[in-house]
Amino acid sequence: MKDIEKGNFIIDTEAGTRALGLSIADAAEPGDIIALIGDLGTGKTALTKYIAEGLGIKEEVISPTFTIVREYRSGRLPLFHFDVYRLSGPEEFIDAGAEDYLEDSGLSVIEWADIVADALPADALLVNIEYAEDDKRRIMII
Ligand SMILES: Nc1ncnc2c1ncn2[C@@H]1O[C@H](COP(=O)(O)OP(=O)(O)O)[C@@H](O)[C@H]1O
Ligand SMILES: [Mg+2]
Repeated sequence: MKDIEKGNFIIDTEAGTRALGLSIADAAEPGDIIALIGDLGTGKTALTKYIAEGLGIKEEVISPTFTIVREYRSGRLPLFHFDVYRLSGPEEFIDAGAEDYLEDSGLSVIEWADIVADALPADALLVNIEYAEDDKRRIMII
């Protein structure tokens, strides 16, 4: 991952989430892993859609809640989009073949990454999203 500004940000509108997604896409390098943590509706899937846009992915990004992972290969890098909400923990994640994706030369983006944190490398980019007032979001990038 190229340098990206770390820290706490208040994002006022979804346009701000889009700007963040585009900048993450610009910084992404093969094999990078982005761990998204945040409650339902905070914008994990929205952020992933904007990362996909920034990678130049043409397909519509659909939440992979029931499939665990969806792959998109029409952009600058392959995107592996996970939603691990339905998994019990890291073991089930590994059993589902996650390591093949994580070690591949694409960009892995994982919604509900806290559930599988023990199976993620320490250098994953952590993006924590919380609700703030109105449509605002508090985003921590670690
Ligand atoms: N600032 C914002 N950032 C991200 N999403 C926002 C924002 N404001 C409103 N939204 C809306 O919140 C919803 C987030 O849903 P989604 O991305 O599916 O959340 P999650 O994947 O975290 O459950 C979308 O309907 C999106 O349009
Ligand atoms: Mg989602």
